[in-house]
Amino acid sequence: MTVDPDKPYTITQAPRVIKGRVVIGNSGAEYGVRGYISAYDAETGALAWRFYTVPGDPANPPEQPILAEAAKTWHGEWWKEGGGGTVWESLSYDPELNLIYFGVSNGLEWNQSYRSESQGDNWFLSSIVAVNADTGAYAWHYQCTPGEEWDFDAVQQLILANLPIDGVTRKVLMQANKNGFFYVLDRKTGQLISAKNFTPVTWASGVDPKTGRPVENPDIRYDKTGKPSSQLPGALGAHSWQAMAFNPKTGLVYVPAQEIGMIYEAVKDFQTAAIGWNIGTATTFKSDVKGYLIAWDPVHQKEVWRANYQGPWNGGILATAGNLVIQGNAAGFFSAYRADTGEKLWSTSVQSAVLAAPATYEIDGEQYIAVMSGWGGAYPLMQGKGSDKSGNTRNVSRVLVFKLGGKTTLPSLPAEPALLAPPPDVADAPTVATGNALFDRFCSVCHGQAAVGGGVVPDLRTSPFIAVDAWYSIVLDGALRQGGMAPFAPYTGLRDP
Ligand code: HEC
Repeated sequence: MTVDPDKPYTITQAPRVIKGRVVIGNSGAEYGVRGYISAYDAETGALAWRFYTVPGDPANPPEQPILAEAAKTWHGEWWKEGGGGTVWESLSYDPELNLIYFGVSNGLEWNQSYRSESQGDNWFLSSIVAVNADTGAYAWHYQCTPGEEWDFDAVQQLILANLPIDGVTRKVLMQANKNGFFYVLDRKTGQLISAKNFTPVTWASGVDPKTGRPVENPDIRYDKTGKPSSQLPGALGAHSWQAMAFNPKTGLVYVPAQEIGMIYEAVKDFQTAAIGWNIGTATTFKSDVKGYLIAWDPVHQKEVWRANYQGPWNGGILATAGNLVIQGNAAGFFSAYRADTGEKLWSTSVQSAVLAAPATYEIDGEQYIAVMSGWGGAYPLMQGKGSDKSGNTRNVSRVLVFKLGGKTTLPSLPAEPALLAPPPDVADAPTVATGNALFDRFCSVCHGQAAVGGGVVPDLRTSPFIAVDAWYSIVLDGALRQGGMAPFAPYTGLRDP
């Protein structure tokens, strides 16, 4: 058990095994936790070290010396709810330097006025951190978004490479961050080599090469007064967890990039709740969205080619030594491109969106490419129906394997369930408003804005349970908990209608 089960931690990260130790972080920064990463002995499970990404209660001695420094960048009483800063993706290791690299997520609350009295950089939120693999001791960090309040995690993949920079081969670490900037760092020292936006960015005009800090545009922060802030990228990032890939032969990084703007607004008089998101921020997706695959030259920090998609939230990427780039997309196509030029070589319909990155392997001299299909993740869950701008919103979970000359065809899909007529409207306006607010806070994160589903979990408008007693056994008692629909009674005190 790598987390305190009494706190709202979740774990979404794949562990990595490094030098006989299992290294893993956790998630839950939206709910109210304090982030850290742990290393366990692979044989015995004994905890070898733990690195906290956010300073704890100042009344207690810091768990690591560097946290005393970090605490100077925080204000108020952030530790009471943990401060966030979880490590939910991205872990890389350089055996020669014996450093483990990981990215740290957003803060809790997102809203910095509630989190840290609108002040301070809040180490190590939205930072890339390097620690000694044997001891977990701090080596360096680079903070991509100081004092973040737009959910700009720094947990996108960290790719290690040797790149020729100004005539010298440098050991670098590369990240296409959610905040829209592509970072190239010296992975020995953490020094910024270069940073450039790979999608349009409204929150900063660039990154100062001397200080390594973003140059924030005026008026981008929202505060307790309720002044909204409209930004690109938004909380789903210019690049999220869908893996990017590097081909050392072309020298290019292939990034599943997107433009999903967001309007952020402070929740007035925000109070933390025992369940649900505690971000202190109300968000609305902007509707003019885009998604594309870009081939990025990390040495010159420029785009070399691009493949446009119908919308955002497309799949992770496989780059092969045979000059191929392979990616599935949200519209339900699986395609191969020439890695150097971007020419599309092949594409096939797979009946469902693909978000996972493909893998390739060889058996008896024959090469295979495997990928998981399935629509899901934060975008369709939260955005609901609007996510069908990206194309195919059916969620068909399969493992698909391709080879040259493969003959199998996919079976056709069953028809989608029909929309039911809504039950008669019997409630008065205040009751409807309360229901709307409750749905928004507790249900919309999976069942979509205004209960219009995005194709991942059941669209409640098609549900036979809307107007019958089974509703209570599902929503309050957890009749479908095995399928991922948690019981709400333990958190609401409600039991019977
Ligand atoms: C963390 C994601 C999540 C949240 C939050 C969530 N649900 Fe669900 N819900 C699911 C999943 C997944 C299923 C499908 C379960 C299955 O089929 O076994 C489901 C199924 C349902 C169903 C049954 C639909 C059908 O026709 O099969 C109802 C009703 C429902 N949810 C209502 C709600 C309500 C009301 C809320 C807010 C109080 C809520 N859900 C919050 C994930 C969620």
